[in-house]
Amino acid sequence: MEKSTWLATPNIAVVKYWGKRDSALNLPYNGSVSVTMDEAVSTRTTVEFDARLSHDLFCLNGKAARPEETVRVSRVLDAVRKKAGIKTRAKVHSENNFPTAAGIASSASGFAALACAAADAAGMRAGSASLSRFARMGSGSACRSVIGGFAEWKKGVKADGSDSYAVQIAPASHWQKLRNVIAITDAGRKLIGSDLGMQMTVQGSALYKERLRKMPALIRGMKHAILACDLPSFLSLAMKESSNMHAVMLDSTPPIVYLNDISYAIMRAVHEFNAQQGKVAAGYTFDAGPNAHVYTAERHAKAIARMLEGIKGVKKTIVCRPGNGPRRLPEKEALF
Ligand code: DP6
Repeated sequence: MEKSTWLATPNIAVVKYWGKRDSALNLPYNGSVSVTMDEAVSTRTTVEFDARLSHDLFCLNGKAARPEETVRVSRVLDAVRKKAGIKTRAKVHSENNFPTAAGIASSASGFAALACAAADAAGMRAGSASLSRFARMGSGSACRSVIGGFAEWKKGVKADGSDSYAVQIAPASHWQKLRNVIAITDAGRKLIGSDLGMQMTVQGSALYKERLRKMPALIRGMKHAILACDLPSFLSLAMKESSNMHAVMLDSTPPIVYLNDISYAIMRAVHEFNAQQGKVAAGYTFDAGPNAHVYTAERHAKAIARMLEGIKGVKKTIVCRPGNGPRRLPEKEALF
């Protein structure tokens, strides 16, 4: 079997995945919508199935990964092995060019690259729905990073998860002028992992039911804004949705707080920017961490980056465009 290396990029949701109807299969209670980023931030992953191995080996950023990380890698590999009809264990090396577990969705790009490389190394010609389901087994949000451009994760209704995968709403070329200015406020590892945080919300938040009730209309509105390249609607919906998710997190028992003072300062600065512009020209969204993703138009990206860098506690900004999704890298770029 061949060695295969793939590069994938994170996706940043504007309608968020938060809450699982099945934790083992990462099946969500609601659909979600995201933009896959370009290669300003990326993960490279090499996979080789090797008959001499008795278990899967996983190295992350040059070091042996923690056991719980290897378990998640094996879940993706198991899904690939099952479909390919093989039992062979694999060696996996993965490298991020950005901080791991700090709210830049390193798991999304990592498991998307893994799904593509593993299917390829197993000699499968998997379509995007299969690749998306494989990636989902590692991390739910990863199922959207398999898709380039604008993606919708269809929550599905089946118990086996066969209808829960991401599809493309529009390619990256559809809205080339959209930018995501990432403000890194804290590159540390998050305290409560998404899996536990989601369980706490589903069990403890009464507001969560209301969130789910409004989801279908929100997803329709967001897709409409994307298809029309309607920036003010896209940004307004994204900001409200991000705050709604963080509100149900706070409504959990005990409350879950991923945002910090810097995140709130960024929120205020974005609203001030919009007030100066006299229209909604920038909009933030926050994942399970304090880093901000500020969506805006190309012509405002520099000003937004400068504004964010002026906020005390913002360590760095990275400007991303919509990206095309995972791609296979030549042999010479393999990690081992
Ligand atoms: C807040 O995909 O990291 O970023 O399925 O447990 O791995 P697991 O969760 P994960 O959750 C991401 C949640 C989010 C919102 C989103 O990306 O949709």
